[in-house]
Amino acid sequence: YGKTLEYLSSCESTQIIAHQLAQQLVPDGTVVLSEEQTAGRGRMARKWDSAHGKGIWMSIILRPDIPLQRAPQFTLIAAVSVVRAIEEVTGLNPDIKWPNDILLNGKKCTGILTELQSDADGIQALIIGIGLNANQEMEDFSDEVKDIATSLKLKKGSPVSRQELVRSILYYLELYTAIYIDEGFAAIKLMWEGYSTTIGKPVRARMAKETLEGIAESITDEGVLQIRTPDGKLHGIYSADIEMKN
Ligand code: BTN
Repeated sequence: YGKTLEYLSSCESTQIIAHQLAQQLVPDGTVVLSEEQTAGRGRMARKWDSAHGKGIWMSIILRPDIPLQRAPQFTLIAAVSVVRAIEEVTGLNPDIKWPNDILLNGKKCTGILTELQSDADGIQALIIGIGLNANQEMEDFSDEVKDIATSLKLKKGSPVSRQELVRSILYYLELYTAIYIDEGFAAIKLMWEGYSTTIGKPVRARMAKETLEGIAESITDEGVLQIRTPDGKLHGIYSADIEMKN
């Protein structure tokens, strides 16, 4: 991945550029990377702070030949790839909060946003947006996020190489995607579960219309989180904000 690379000094959002490129038949693994985003976006219509030169603001265009309903698995493949890359390049050991938050000491250092282009023939493009806080200092974070966000530099105590991180993220994403296509989701799921802080814990899941509390029991082969509520029922969660209780 990354053989076709669009490298920008500034843009609104690499996701927007990637969506445009994806419609022009660019190859699988095309990467859009920007030093800064002026309107970086997060999940659930939130904004994503993307200060110039401080982090990795990147979107990857994938064209996997899989049915639409398996698309959420790619968020988990991306999360595992980023964690592996952070481990390799920095020696830090982040964990994953379902589905896509990468945390250091409970604070978010990376978010992943997966968006789709599809039609009657299925998936035309999967756009995986990765926002990784690399070299921010505390004062680089806005008041809104400073209690919940962190950077690799803050945790490590020294600057990290964004270039090495990009190389390593793309390497692992390509490797794990190949494993997934050849062998299925099981191997990815095992790795994901190994990094997860969510499974086996009491959680509160905030969704658009309701909030559920229970034990996060497992993820399914589709990447859906299963929460067991106190009445014994098992609920499949496709999209939510997860809060760890206690
Ligand atoms: C989240 O809400 O946790 C997901 C954040 C995703 C941010 C990345 S930065 C690169 C790409 N471009 C965007 O506008 N968003 C994603």
